[in-house]
Amino acid sequence: MSWALIPLTEEQREIQRTAAEFARSEIAPHSDLWDRQATFDRGVLARMGELGFLGMLLPPEYDGLGLDTCTYLVALEEIAAVDASVAVAMSVHNSLPTQMILRWGTAEQRERFLRPMARGEMLGAFALSEPEAGSDAASLRMQAERDGDCWVLNGTKAWVTSGSDAEVILVMARTDSAAERRGARGISTFIVTPDLPGFHVGKKEDKMGLRASPTVQLNFDNLRVPAANLLGGEGKGFVYAMQSLDNGRLGIAAQALGIARAALEHATRYAAERRQFGKPIKEFQAIQFKLADMATRITASRALLYAAAAAKDRGEPITQFSSMSKLFASETAMWVTTQAIQIFGGYGYVKEYPVERLFRDAKVTEIYEGTSEIQRIVIARELFARGE
Ligand code: CAA
Repeated sequence: MSWALIPLTEEQREIQRTAAEFARSEIAPHSDLWDRQATFDRGVLARMGELGFLGMLLPPEYDGLGLDTCTYLVALEEIAAVDASVAVAMSVHNSLPTQMILRWGTAEQRERFLRPMARGEMLGAFALSEPEAGSDAASLRMQAERDGDCWVLNGTKAWVTSGSDAEVILVMARTDSAAERRGARGISTFIVTPDLPGFHVGKKEDKMGLRASPTVQLNFDNLRVPAANLLGGEGKGFVYAMQSLDNGRLGIAAQALGIARAALEHATRYAAERRQFGKPIKEFQAIQFKLADMATRITASRALLYAAAAAKDRGEPITQFSSMSKLFASETAMWVTTQAIQIFGGYGYVKEYPVERLFRDAKVTEIYEGTSEIQRIVIARELFARGE
């Protein structure tokens, strides 16, 4: 679908072509099987690392491509249009752990982790949520107690994307549980590697969609993480997580956009092929109106997302725009995939046609990295803060 509203540079078009070609040749042939069998293919991410897709926002000194946010999102949308499960691993890795280490890591932490992460030799994950702390992330209970040169971590993280396969996990834990400092201020961030004794991969979720992306619980049982793995300042972990999610939510918006765009493309082609009452169904206004509304909402989502990403690239605050982008794109993806199924009729409801998976995959974009309700809270708070 047309990108006319957002003129891409020659470099962006080249990256878009490369991502689309990679997705078509290396991902598309396997996506249905991966979805059916809930298989996570680490090899495909390794190849994406070789092409630079896992270090898109990292500077060349750390083997990254040093690209801006807009260019990264162009590539992410292409991957998501073919396989939203692969896209979420790419989004989390590029937006959260790599950026957190780049921004708040010590020179030693950046040296140790960023190059292998940029090359895709180490996959990153982000562990904030817990079984009892989802939308209310600041109520997390994972404990970290200082013991000599280490912090000792105890607790359970939940809903960790790529958590079973990641080599670097950014873990938010409570380092100060003194009564007066409970809540957001007593939380710190640790760089955890799965080789540390006491790290256990727990329950793997059996999900409705995004089945080829492993979502797991992680159990920490007296896990001793070296003090050198504390990221940034003690007690600043919650603010780091929130600031990082401002970026992460742009990635999820691009993922939602890719899903929605793919649904529109499939539905448009199907409407031209499928004949009922003696003519292709695209000749019925009921179908044309659906497709027109789908295209309009997708174009509006993209315009909002790229305006937000451009603001980020200019160094402006994006908390509200990022939430707006994620909210609008994810609700668009859910709405568009629902319409696509309606256009396919019974064929949309079976696994033989692609829109069934797109519909299942779309739903989680309204849930993770902050539900639609949380995005509305963030948007509304900013209105009140500015007295609008
Ligand atoms: N940027 C910078 N600082 C921020 C911030 C932001 N975007 N948002 C909050 N903060 C700061 C506040 O200024 C405050 O700092 P001070 O204490 O210094 O004043 C501190 O963080 C606490 O903020 P709040 O009082 O606003 O905290 P809250 O408890 O009311 O929670 C919330 C706010 C928006 C509801 C937050 O909890 C939230 O976003 N919840 C949703 C959680 C979420 O998105 N989880 C996603 C899990 S990760 C995931 O899904 C990844 C994946 O695998 C795909």
